[in-house]
Amino acid sequence: MVDLCCGTGVNLEELSSAVGSRGAVIGVDLSEGMLSEARERVRAAGLANVQLVQADVRDYQLPDEAAAVLSTFGLEMVPAYDEVIEGLAERLPVGGRVGLLGLKHPEGWPDWLVEAGVVATKPFGVSRDYEDFRPWTAADQHFDRRSFREHLLGAAYSYVGEKAQGLTSLGNGEP
Ligand SMILES: C[S@@+](CC[C@H](N)C(=O)[O-])C[C@H]1O[C@@H](n2cnc3c(N)ncnc32)[C@H](O)[C@@H]1O
Repeated sequence: MVDLCCGTGVNLEELSSAVGSRGAVIGVDLSEGMLSEARERVRAAGLANVQLVQADVRDYQLPDEAAAVLSTFGLEMVPAYDEVIEGLAERLPVGGRVGLLGLKHPEGWPDWLVEAGVVATKPFGVSRDYEDFRPWTAADQHFDRRSFREHLLGAAYSYVGEKAQGLTSLGNGEP
């Protein structure tokens, strides 16, 4: 299991117990500052099956054994998310899964409310620069959509896709 843009490693403990002692989790992030916090978290929790890698997700090659990828509040900050997701689809085996959780433009909100939300969440790196980014639509091109849900009245989403045999392009017209 690979956690792309793992940041300080908030997902790692749960992923570590989900894959168990015979599985492995790799957290990948560009920032040494984030990774040093993640390292401390891994050490404090004694997570023997977690490894951390400093890399740009655009260059990172999934290991052959990887069966699933998660990215939470990560890929919508990567302008080349399309390319990254295409790379995941090439490397994951049939049946491999990708899970995404992130912020999105809340359709139907008045612009002043969107602006207020962006100002309130700016300390967490939220910016209108990312509002047109739609990683789940890129994922739909390569994965069979298993679920898509909106959260926070449309300001966030979660997506799960699975790589199907021979699936190269799929578009189901959903948001
Ligand atoms: C908002 S944080 C999310 C961290 C974590 N996934 C979470 O849910 O708390 C976004 C993370 O993406 C990382 N990031 C942004 N661009 C990246 C890139 N091109 N390659 C790797 N990591 C990147 C940042 O360093 C940061 O740690």
